[in-house]
Formats: sequence, structure tokens, C-alpha cells
Amino acid sequence: MRSVDDLIAEGVSGRRVFLRTDLNVPLDHTTRSPVISDDGRIRASLPTLQALREAGARVVVSAHLGRPKGTPDPQFSLAPVAARLGELLGTAVPLAADTAGDDARAKAEALGDGDVLLLENVRFEAAETSKDDAERGELADRFAALADVYVDDAFGAVHRKHASVFDVAQRLPCYAGRLVARELEVLTRLTTEPDRPYVVVLGGSKVSDKLAVIEALLPKVDRLLVGGGMCFTFLAAQGHGVGKSLLEADQVDTCRRLLAEAGDRIVLPVDVVCSPEFSADAGSTVVAVADIPDDQMGLDVGPRTVEVFGAELGSARTVFWNGPMGVFELAPFQAGTRGVAQAVAAVDGLSVVGGGDSAAAVRQLGLDEEAYGHISTGGGASLEYLEGRDLPGLSVLTD
Ligand code: 3PG
Repeated sequence: MRSVDDLIAEGVSGRRVFLRTDLNVPLDHTTRSPVISDDGRIRASLPTLQALREAGARVVVSAHLGRPKGTPDPQFSLAPVAARLGELLGTAVPLAADTAGDDARAKAEALGDGDVLLLENVRFEAAETSKDDAERGELADRFAALADVYVDDAFGAVHRKHASVFDVAQRLPCYAGRLVARELEVLTRLTTEPDRPYVVVLGGSKVSDKLAVIEALLPKVDRLLVGGGMCFTFLAAQGHGVGKSLLEADQVDTCRRLLAEAGDRIVLPVDVVCSPEFSADAGSTVVAVADIPDDQMGLDVGPRTVEVFGAELGSARTVFWNGPMGVFELAPFQAGTRGVAQAVAAVDGLSVVGGGDSAAAVRQLGLDEEAYGHISTGGGASLEYLEGRDLPGLSVLTD
């Protein structure tokens, strides 16, 4: 896999670079104009962008935001991202009015050495995410016409077989960006003889989203700590009543099998924070997992669980954490995520935070990002990498 540093060594001054980045940041739409609530992914894109600018490249940046339905939709415009990117780079970053149309072409042609242009959301084109190779190919031809070379730095999107991630890389000389290289370097350390004990912490709402990675990781880890909404399906599999908590009834049998096969390595919460409603104002109580009232829902792991998880993390030498332990956006239910985040930060060894939500939790809870070995920008992408799946956006760079 050739890297952007190889490209810079070849000489990139005056050449147009189509740079795919992952600028899919959370936006707060409750204010008059949308506000970026966590700019971590924009900041993570800077090293490659700066290096290309300093080398005199003319950079055409492409990115997706959210999941618009394949047609322009102002609430998914990259305008706030262009503004923030410009602030961070200290230069104006114009936004093309379209993704690969007349305005994108005109603005790409007008770029000078070291200039940066952001294309409008690639998902405004239905072909971007199409299952039809020819449809994606037609869009990829238009992307390729905007540049001389392709650099992929969108680690969070490498698991997507999309026109701007996969097909365009088949049409131009292609290189991996510095963020992609760094993510791979760290994730490889998790898959190749990690220092032991190796502890994985999984949270988030749906167990069905995580089953594949649980199956893949169980043979490799010393402990798998399960929190977040997904723990209730495991607790139900253990025979506990879970009241109104999130439950995926169709996954209970699978969780029961996993507990039978690897129950010595799976660590579940011993207490939870409950509330009658999904609300910060409805009151909350801590109960043992055996005592969850029928009319309440668990919205965070409890303090004893934080101690149990903390003890496992305290002896770990390698840790991967994906998914919050509870509804950390609501103050009464953030202590579990905070406690686990602090324990992960204190690990004496390699600690990796994976996934948009856990990375956002670290920043929103005001924790020190520097305390972690690595904060991955990839949610689904890092999980699929750890599952050992083929990631189209990576394999196309090595073909
Ligand atoms: C992410 O947020 O994990 C990446 O940006 C990928 O987004 P997607 O799941 O909408 O493809």
C-alpha cells in the first residue's frame, strides 16, 4: 500500500489530489444554524491535508455527512464543516455547490498550489452508495476527472464499497493517507499478539450490531466486558427480568450460547442505574441486576459494576473499548461511561478507543484525549477490521 508520504516524495506540487476524508461529525440542529458538537474527525484529517498543502498539492476534499437519501438536502450540507476546516487550517475552504457537477469542476480547475476545496456531501448523489457497479462507476468517473491522484484518509468509511471510497481508487493512482496508516498500525497491534491480559469493553445499544465482533473476539481476548443497552439481552439470557430496558428478544438464545461457551471470559454488569423513563428528570435508582423493577429501564451501569470493570482494566496490558456504558448524554446516566473511560485511560499498556460514540464521550465528558494510546475515528470500520473482514476501501489500495 503506497502512502501519501510516497506521493509527496514523488512530487505532488501543482497536481490535483482527490482526498477522501471522514468528516462525518455530529451536528446540533437545535440552534438557528447547525453547530458541530464534536470536531474530532475534522481535526484527525488535518495531518494529511497539511502535508499535501505544504507540498503544493491542489486538494479536492470529498466527504459524507449523515445518511441523506441520495439527493441534495440542506440539513446534511457540509457547509458547517467547510467553515470549521477553514478555521483549523487557517485558510478559506470553499464548498462546491455540488458533489461532482459543474461547480465542482469549475472550482477544482481554479485551485492554486496549496489550495483546498471541499465538495458537497458525496451522499447527495444516489450513485455513491449504489449496489450497482455501473452506477457507482459513472460517478467515480466524474470524481476521477477532478484530479490526477487519489488519497484515501477516510478510515471511518473504508468498510463501505462506495464510489468515493472504492471505485475512484480503481481509476487513479491511489495512496493511503496518514490517518489511515496510523489507524492500521494501531489496530494491527490488537490483532497480532497483543500484550496480555487483553481486555475488550463493548457497549452501545444493540447487541445484534456487535454479535459478529463478539464471536470473532471471544477466542482472542482474556476478558470481554459488556455494558450499554446491549447488556440487557445478555442479562435476560442469564434469566434476569430486565423491565422496560432495551431488549432484543430474538438475540437472547445467541447470548445464552455465548455465555455457555465463554461465560468465564464474559463479564456482565452486577448493578444498573434505572429510571421509569428515558429522561434526565424522571429520577434514577441503582439496583442489583437481579432486582430491575418491571416498570423501569436500565440506562447506565451501576457503581459496583464500574468497580468490577475497573479491576479487570487495572490488570490489563491491552484494551479496546467501543461503545458507551449508558446514556451518557443525560447527566444522571453518565457515571458508568465516565468510570470506564477513566479506567481505560489509566491502563498500563495500549489503550484504544474505537467508535464515534465512545470517542465523542471521551471529549464531551471533558476527559484528556492524550491519556489514551489511540482514539480511532472508525466505528463500524474498526469493528469490521477486528472481525477480520475484507474492507473494500483498504483492499482497493493494495490491489
Ligand atoms: C461512521 O460514522 O462510522 C462513518 O462516518 C461511516 O458512516 P456510515 O455508517 O453512515 O457509512
